[in-house]
Amino acid sequence: MNRKGIILAGGLNTRLFPITKVISKQLLPVYDKPLIYYPISTLMLTGIKEILIISDKNNLPIYKKLLGNGKNFGVKLFYKLQNKPRGIAEALIIGKNFLKKSPVALILGDNIFYGNNLLKILKKNSLKINKNTIFAYQVPNPKQFGVVEFNQKKGIKSIEEKPKDPKSNFVVTGLYFFDKNAVDYASKLNFSQRGELEITDLNNIYLSNKNLSIEILGRGFSWFDCGTPDLLYQAQSFVQLMQNRNMLQIGCLEEIAIGNKWISKNLLKKMIKEYPENQYKNYLKKMLY
Ligand code: TTP
Repeated sequence: MNRKGIILAGGLNTRLFPITKVISKQLLPVYDKPLIYYPISTLMLTGIKEILIISDKNNLPIYKKLLGNGKNFGVKLFYKLQNKPRGIAEALIIGKNFLKKSPVALILGDNIFYGNNLLKILKKNSLKINKNTIFAYQVPNPKQFGVVEFNQKKGIKSIEEKPKDPKSNFVVTGLYFFDKNAVDYASKLNFSQRGELEITDLNNIYLSNKNLSIEILGRGFSWFDCGTPDLLYQAQSFVQLMQNRNMLQIGCLEEIAIGNKWISKNLLKKMIKEYPENQYKNYLKKMLY
């Protein structure tokens, strides 16, 4: 069964207030594209064609207007409401009818992944449909994340959510590959003290079943969660710098769709006729030859 994708693009958005007073964080610009383009691109690079976008009542119509049914990017996009931000693991429960027991790649709408070997790593892990994989990254401030403690074989010993005394600097990033049991396990979770269905609790179920692998994103990878003004600013600077240095786009959905042979050059030609004259359009024009 093909893996399906879920993007969680709601949230409380307290840390970016007032920027996010009237608009969802994932619609904010990261240099030349809305933030949500980047997690969509990660799923598309993994080879995932069916994607559910989950957000709140105010923002869902904006996502629909921005992205439509996905046809222009060679994917099928679906939309569902999360009434309140009741935790990352709730995405799986909301996505139950969409997933229909298929394996899933769950990604947070404010996460950007970039790196040379990323594609290979994503594809390799995505093919293991009965395995569960988390992706870890080393950060200077692990206390705000799910932190990994390693065993002697470089596997996971424990994962602690926002620990006071972190056991390592490796944190769980916002990309999770789960098997067909994810919805059932998520449905059994209890709300935490902060009123959320915690993704760390779900990871810990898989860990206690001895079916949770870890992929370390080491040297040569960049990972951003754009949850604070500083992190958002850093991500914006990074994309601006990389794109202008090597003349290659990060998170360009049309380019990935062409690369995956999910849309034809004819469709791209038709689409970009409607685009205004700018850098983005000029870049896409190069795909036509
Ligand atoms: P967080 O950054 O943990 O939280 P937040 O976006 O609610 O913001 P803040 O902490 O500033 O109040 O969320 C991670 C991502 O998951 C983000 O893209 C929003 C999304 N999210 C939901 O869509 N629903 C939820 O219930 C939660 C907890 C997060």
